[in-house]
Amino acid sequence: MPTVRDVRAKAGKEPITMLTAYDAPTAAILDGGGVDVILVGDSLGNTSLGYETTLPVTVDDMARHVGAVARATDDALVVADMPFLSFGVDEAASLENAGRMLKEEDAHAVKLECGPHTVELTERMVQLGIPVMAHLGLTPQHVNEYGGFPRQGTDEDSARRILELAQAHEDAGAFSLVLEHVPSNVAAQVTEAIEIPTIGIGAGPDCDGQVLVIDDVIGLSDWSPSFSKQFGDVKGEMEAAVEDYVDAVESETFPEAEHSYEESDVDRIY
Ligand code: KIV
Ligand code: NA
Repeated sequence: MPTVRDVRAKAGKEPITMLTAYDAPTAAILDGGGVDVILVGDSLGNTSLGYETTLPVTVDDMARHVGAVARATDDALVVADMPFLSFGVDEAASLENAGRMLKEEDAHAVKLECGPHTVELTERMVQLGIPVMAHLGLTPQHVNEYGGFPRQGTDEDSARRILELAQAHEDAGAFSLVLEHVPSNVAAQVTEAIEIPTIGIGAGPDCDGQVLVIDDVIGLSDWSPSFSKQFGDVKGEMEAAVEDYVDAVESETFPEAEHSYEESDVDRIY
């Protein structure tokens, strides 16, 4: 069984690979490809549910997709992202929502978009046996407060706040930390200052690992951030396959005999 300890132990030794997945077939491909951590991100809202932000994603949405991913994964660590307002409002509800991902959906850990309000909560979750991946820098659930998705930690005060919160979450027992959209030199300093692994997205080369959204990696997204890299053209492949299918049916070249069942003994039935 993959454990948060395996991921922690890689810090400073071997790069950690993390990608998002939202469904069983994609999770199986990532798992077979040797990805260390599969994050069922609340980016689900954008990639798969057609929302413009992650805010409408519910605990039920996450649970359904976490279960699908966990059922298709043998080797990778499965991390469930906690959606907007499912944590941090009320402690009992936070613990119940996070606990559900492990208890009912077979996730190994949860991820929380962090701030001063998640330090004690992280400690409580870890005490109860719910491993926590912290997330600092750009936290997209704050889109309405930011007025967009701006880079974070770009001045000394805000960079220092990120560092202090990173240390506070490490002390609270988080097993790793996602750093999103922060300057490389800030991410490098945070990585140096804490022992738990940092996993960067738009945070430069000096983190202990990297994470990207799977749709951006395989080329399925209409838009992707500049810090992302497209490693494939799945959208192009899908468009070509759909076009060929439509052509084949319209031109009556599909189905052929090999795609059809043999004649049966059924007599005329009308
Ligand atoms: O929801 C998500 O996919 C994430 C990653 C980008 C870190 O939070
Ligand atoms: Na997320």
